[in-house]
Amino acid sequence: MSLEQKIETLKAKHAQALAGGGEERVRKQHEGGKLTARERIAAFLDEGSFEEMDALMVHRTEGVEKIPGDGVVTGFGRVDGRPVAIFAQDFTVFGGSLSEAYAKKICKVMDLAMKVGCPVVGLNDSGGARIQEGVVSLGGYADIFLRNTLASGVIPQISLIMGPCAGGAVYSPAITDFITMVKGTSYMFVTGPDVIKTVTHEEVTKEELGGAHTHAAKSGVASFVCASDLAALAHTRELLSFLPSNNLGEAPRKAPRTQMPLENPDLDKVVPDDPSKPYDIRDIIRGVVDDQHFFEEHEAFAPNLVVGFARIEGRSVGIVANQPAFYAGVLDISSSEKGARFVRFCDAFNIPLITFEDVPGFLPGVTQEHGGIIRHGAKLLYAFCEATVPKITVITRKAYGGAYCVMASKHIRTDFNFAYPTAEIAVMGAEGAMNVLHGKAIAAAPDPAAKRAELIADYNEKFANPYIAAEFGFVDEVILPRETRQKLIKALAFLDTKRDSTPPKKHGNIPL
Ligand code: HXC
Repeated sequence: MSLEQKIETLKAKHAQALAGGGEERVRKQHEGGKLTARERIAAFLDEGSFEEMDALMVHRTEGVEKIPGDGVVTGFGRVDGRPVAIFAQDFTVFGGSLSEAYAKKICKVMDLAMKVGCPVVGLNDSGGARIQEGVVSLGGYADIFLRNTLASGVIPQISLIMGPCAGGAVYSPAITDFITMVKGTSYMFVTGPDVIKTVTHEEVTKEELGGAHTHAAKSGVASFVCASDLAALAHTRELLSFLPSNNLGEAPRKAPRTQMPLENPDLDKVVPDDPSKPYDIRDIIRGVVDDQHFFEEHEAFAPNLVVGFARIEGRSVGIVANQPAFYAGVLDISSSEKGARFVRFCDAFNIPLITFEDVPGFLPGVTQEHGGIIRHGAKLLYAFCEATVPKITVITRKAYGGAYCVMASKHIRTDFNFAYPTAEIAVMGAEGAMNVLHGKAIAAAPDPAAKRAELIADYNEKFANPYIAAEFGFVDEVILPRETRQKLIKALAFLDTKRDSTPPKKHGNIPL
């Protein structure tokens, strides 16, 4: 074969790989509102940075058409100039179903990402295990699950669900750090509506069972929901900007676009005088972070706790905040799990944690107790105790009971604990305390209501303030809300070189 012929052969093979499952299937993909695997990669990575690997790899099943590259496009490129490994499942090739060769391609980029220390982004759009390959395909999934687990806490792993993701296939995204779903075109479930109908006689649509809204608001499986493929890809680029490339690095610093004043008098007005009145904790968060920009995760799930990323003078920080605007910011099963996972992610990837606290306690009730609030609440406590990244807490109002201890209190090695003058730090709120301490005296009083009011005023005077905690050194400083940003800037700068560790062990036993 002449050199020209060899070059032509190579070009033809590449052209075949680029064509994926062919024009008709690409048309169907577009008709369904979805981009193809290659279009997604091109939209996601810095322009021209994609380097494809294994574009000529094929499956090994006899009698089934072989398409170069099989059903997944893999390789590496850059996002904002930083390296990223990527795989994009190609629904136009055998419905993006996973063969042995396909799994090997994914494992190869994951192994490289681990060695290089860069994030892996997986774009999922697949009919699951390649039926013709049987157990070999299942083995391929298990090979990926193992790598997801080994890479956990070493490199960030992000999954975008951009089509079907069903059966055991859901467990690869489930192990990764973040799942973004696309509205209307993606779904995730372990068993689909047909199987459910047969087994439990429940009737449910795919969308109700495992669509983006369901996983964002009900199950908490989805960290983010975006309106389209392009929106999800752009959103993931931004997510990466808050993260380091690996557990040994730091997130890139990014100068704020606008210069914020060090003092923000508007913050003095956010926490209402009346302790029973709600307010939106995001007003405080936005008032202290760069460009007032808060990149919230799990926005629709357990909204009584708010978590997400932001920057303070260019430093990436993880924010965990009780939300008084929803269930008074109480801690329950879902919010404890949500918070714990976020805290552990930040700790694994050297992202300082800032906690805004206004919590009346844990949610009382039979459902919560029987659902295991003891076990689940312990996750958040464990996560905060375990975290060795810089930790700063600002108590804006209530810090009651066990929740006081849990929410990054001084006692669990938080570096700086600030409190506003509106802070109330006590074993419980005045109303509850009255019943326990003075129930009989109030009942016996000539005017029980007046007696109750007098005792409540006395209790609040004694306990509902930050000063006793400050006297014990559990609060380092009582600050005005307007000063929050500058206090955080100074604390973060001081903690830049923080070193802390946990006793050597194989791993702890977080109450799962
Ligand atoms: C082989 C598959 C396939 C699969 C789809 N295709 N899924 N080929 N193995 N798992 C092929 C179809 O034959 C078809 O080929 C093409 O992909 C597109 O599929 P359509 O059905 O035409 O597309 P659509 O109508 O959009 O439906 C998509 C779908 C459906 C809902 C995903 O294809 C489907 O239900 N597939 C089977 C899903 C499934 O049960 N998978 C196994 C789950 S268990 P042609 O040539 O006609 O274009 C599992 C275990 C993992 O995955 C375990 C891990 C531990």
